[in-house]
Amino acid sequence: MSSPTTGVQASPPRRAGFWPAAVAAMAMMLLGAGAQAAEDNALSSEDKACLECHQKPGLAKTLGNGEKMSLHVAPKRFADSAHGSSGCEGCHAEIDINDHGKEPKPIASKREHARGMMETCRDCHKKTVKLYEDSVHSALVKTGSEKAPICSDCHNPHDTPLAKEGNGHADPLQCHQCHEKIAVALKDSVHGQSEDEALVCKDCHRTHNIKAASHGDHLKGQCLSCHRDSAATHKAWLPNAERHLEAISCEACHSPGAKRRVNLRLYDVASQTQVTEKVGVPQFKRLAHAADEQGKGLDARALWSLLQEFNNNGSESKMALRGRLEVQTGEEAHRLGAKAHAVKECDTCHREGAESFQSVSVSMVGPDGRPLRHDASKGVLTSVESIGSIGGFYAIGSTRIKLLDTLLLMALAAGILFPTAHFTVKWLSKRARARQAAADASNPQE
Ligand code: HEC
Ligand code: HEC
Ligand code: HEC
Ligand code: HEC
Ligand code: HEC
Ligand code: HEC
Ligand code: HEC
Ligand code: HEC
Ligand code: HEC
Repeated sequence: MSSPTTGVQASPPRRAGFWPAAVAAMAMMLLGAGAQAAEDNALSSEDKACLECHQKPGLAKTLGNGEKMSLHVAPKRFADSAHGSSGCEGCHAEIDINDHGKEPKPIASKREHARGMMETCRDCHKKTVKLYEDSVHSALVKTGSEKAPICSDCHNPHDTPLAKEGNGHADPLQCHQCHEKIAVALKDSVHGQSEDEALVCKDCHRTHNIKAASHGDHLKGQCLSCHRDSAATHKAWLPNAERHLEAISCEACHSPGAKRRVNLRLYDVASQTQVTEKVGVPQFKRLAHAADEQGKGLDARALWSLLQEFNNNGSESKMALRGRLEVQTGEEAHRLGAKAHAVKECDTCHREGAESFQSVSVSMVGPDGRPLRHDASKGVLTSVESIGSIGGFYAIGSTRIKLLDTLLLMALAAGILFPTAHFTVKWLSKRARARQAAADASNPQE
């Protein structure tokens, strides 16, 4: 690269008898000329050589799949971009200008070319590439998605603005391009309404290391990182708030009008983490279809046999199902309302035939982090036969004794505190009694 300094260094070495004034004058001239050139155009002569051909707007090539790939690179935009100083060589070092462009080089598709080129980002942005490789988008790409973004879908490598120039990189536009319905839902929500405080995608999902949304508890953690008091404020009106916040996603109460469902997630009992299907060993779909012969949704017996299959399938530790009440769609997960519209009435959930328990699915974490699902019949939640498989849902982590204690306390407080508790207690105790009877029958030693 020709900079003012190299200009000076390249000038003839000083010899005795040279007039110092002339040297100074010459240095000034060179400096001036160099600076002028840098202002006009920061491109090196190597870059200019590449651009001699590539600045032609019409330069294009037809690829293996029939796509037409433009080979045009705009010199001024490149020079002004974050990568102007890296030069073409920073990313295209493999190109040898002497034999380049003469023989057509086979390229299957734009996507394949861009995926190959992505490796170069690693040379200078190690950390960011690492974050990205830990993301759901990267997992999707690795498992064959043609639509999930790679670096150059979000960053034009030839026209990458510097973030500090306030060029809008921080706005959710890139996410919006592919997740439009969700972006609209967010805008309509309590989080999207304030002009200066409006949340953007990365406030909850981050930018490069985006995780599958329903995997683990990371998004709940994000909610609580801003709403620090929430865990405590809910205790003021919600008995067993910890249990509720564990078994119900925040959105299930805060997205007005959302359709809910119970998602029975496959858990590893020892590590207390969700079970992920191994890459290349698809079993969930196969086993769930086999257990659900008629395709009507898994009933209690089928659920039990499915769980047995997983437990007998060479797994080292025991697997169980854990219920979580959640919203049914990605849009609903973002359309959160003000607190006045949140679900507060106990009998929204604690009554026979409550809407929340009409839809049930069983899920396992898929190879890309997103859930693999199979429908279950709603009867599995009430059937005595499912105690072995989902006995956990109505008393996760707690014992039935503890539940009965709670019920007693509630019964005492009932008439005064909750007009609806009457139904609640009736409903819960009926179920608890059925459970207890069944548990006693299947565990005579207790
Ligand atoms: C920061 C890295 C980087 C730099 C610097 C860079 N390129 Fe690229 N280039 C890429 C990537 C990545 C692709 C493929 C993906 C894409 O174009 O979106 C690419 C693709 C291309 C293509 C194929 C057409 C296309 O746009 O996909 C041409 C031609 C090209 N570059 C020329 C140049 C020239 C000429 C320069 C210097 C003026 C340059 N590149 C500088 C990263 C870079
Ligand atoms: C003499 C004109 C010319 C020059 C100079 C030139 N290119 Fe090209 N370039 C082409 C042509 C023509 C193609 C299409 C070749 C083909 O059909 O495979 C091409 C293709 C490309 C591609 C597409 C992918 C690939 O590898 O073929 C990249 C990237 C690229 N050039 C970068 C560069 C860089 C970087 C330089 C400077 C080091 C450069 N070019 C110099 C004419 C040129
Ligand atoms: C889904 C879109 C998206 C993808 C894919 C993506 N980025 Fe980014 N990137 C952004 C956005 C938006 C910003 C602006 C800063 C922010 O919002 O965090 C950014 C910022 C950056 C920055 C500047 C500061 C920082 O956060 O490190 C670098 C460097 C970067 N990206 C490189 C990459 C590389 C390399 C890849 C591929 C491994 C990549 N990006 C993939 C959207 C994306
Ligand atoms: C040869 C080294 C090099 C390579 C390879 C490279 N970059 Fe960069 N990149 C830089 C430099 C230098 C900057 C400017 C950093 C600065 O000034 O903050 C930059 C800046 C960026 C920024 C903007 C960061 C900001 O702070 O605004 C993004 C986004 C980015 N690069 C993406 C990419 C992507 C995507 C690739 C791969 C296609 C890539 N880079 C490959 C050197 C490189
Ligand atoms: C080029 C298109 C594209 C861009 C840009 C993009 N995504 Fe994605 N994203 C996808 C595709 C395709 C999937 C997989 C299908 C799906 O879940 O919608 C996906 C999946 C996801 C998932 C996982 C969904 C799940 O079920 O768990 C999240 C979260 C996500 N994207 C967030 C973002 C965020 C945040 C941004 C902006 C920083 C973004 N995406 C930008 C295409 C994109
Ligand atoms: C206030 C936090 C928050 C913000 C802001 C946010 N999300 Fe989400 N996102 C969530 C939650 C919570 C879920 C659902 C998690 C679950 O399944 O339990 C989710 C789920 C998703 C999913 C998976 C949807 C599905 O079908 O399962 C995608 C994709 C996604 N978000 C993209 C985005 C995009 C794009 C933006 C910006 C327009 C965004 N999110 C902004 C919290 C947020
Ligand atoms: C069982 C339903 C339910 C669940 C689950 C729930 N909330 Fe709430 N939340 C409410 C109700 C009802 C209010 C309004 C309380 C009132 O009347 O003041 C509320 C109030 C709030 C408020 C307003 C300020 C405050 O703290 O009182 C925030 C913020 C909030 N919830 C966040 C969350 C988060 C984050 C989660 C998940 C960790 C969550 N909520 C889970 C029902 C629920
Ligand atoms: C980046 C910080 C941030 C994150 C992350 C965040 N929120 Fe918020 N939330 C806000 C702000 C700011 C407001 C609007 C100001 C206010 O009224 O508290 C708000 C408002 C709310 C309200 C309405 C409160 C009321 O008083 O009516 C609820 C409910 C809420 N958020 C729930 C959630 C849930 C659930 C999540 C996770 C999916 C979440 N928030 C993630 C910052 C955040
Ligand atoms: C959005 C639905 C929903 C609402 C609203 C709701 N609950 Fe629950 N409740 C549940 C679910 C789901 C469980 C099962 C939790 C578990 O087993 O981990 C539960 C469990 C309970 C339990 C048993 C706790 C235990 O130790 O197993 C009691 C008692 C209870 N709820 C009382 C109430 C009362 C009182 C209210 C109203 C103030 C209320 N619930 C509001 C869904 C709800």
